[in-house]
Amino acid sequence: MAVVAGNWKMNHGPEAARAFFAELDLDDVSEEHEIVVFPTDLSLGTAVAAAPTRVSIGVQNVHPEDSGAFTGATSAALAAEAGARYALVGHSERRHLFGETDEETERKVAAALRHGLTPVLCVGETLDERRAGRVEDVVLRQLDAVLETLADGGARFLLAYEPVWAIGTGETATPADASAAHATLRGRLRTRLAGANDVPILYGGSVKPDNAAELLGADEVDGVLVGGASLDAASFAQIARAVDGGGV
Ligand code: 13P
Repeated sequence: MAVVAGNWKMNHGPEAARAFFAELDLDDVSEEHEIVVFPTDLSLGTAVAAAPTRVSIGVQNVHPEDSGAFTGATSAALAAEAGARYALVGHSERRHLFGETDEETERKVAAALRHGLTPVLCVGETLDERRAGRVEDVVLRQLDAVLETLADGGARFLLAYEPVWAIGTGETATPADASAAHATLRGRLRTRLAGANDVPILYGGSVKPDNAAELLGADEVDGVLVGGASLDAASFAQIARAVDGGGV
């Protein structure tokens, strides 16, 4: 099975979310594959109500605390109550635009697990880090910061390798680049988890209908996390149809 996830980022209000799910046609996509959509918090309720049962809904971020005086924030507890099943944690935009640290990421993973949300931990290097030959260092540092919490949580989780230089740029990692980074992550999981081979590792960064099959066919790539191309129901469905050529 493979996982096809769409991260809408700060796009699609409730009306557009309803229209997306009305148009989304997954008839040709085998039921064994997992489909997840991450709308904005404002569209979460609409997405939960409008999505077909085979599509799970997640939040793009959670606050580490469960409730309290944190104006503008969403907790994992509230997201779960509103019908979310997944939570993205440590997306590169949270790390680089909002200054989220590894320590905050760990607390967010813990919050997601506390409330039964499946965390999708995002890791990835910047272009400078790649040029400096630091891909392994960076992705392992980001994973190590949360691995104990993930492993000891005993619940299912996913990883997403999203090289920062490939996000929203039209630049895509080659299947070989993706496989290499995924193998590094898998190797670390194996040192800590009996079920390491069952943890889906998704690739994200300029995934489009025309490159999805190739990426999904790469070794150790168990799914994709799609940004821009997930906003359009037809292109998201086309990417989902590409999974039958790849995945675990
Ligand atoms: P793009 O597909 O727009 O490059 O975004 C990738 C991403 O950040 C998904 O979380």
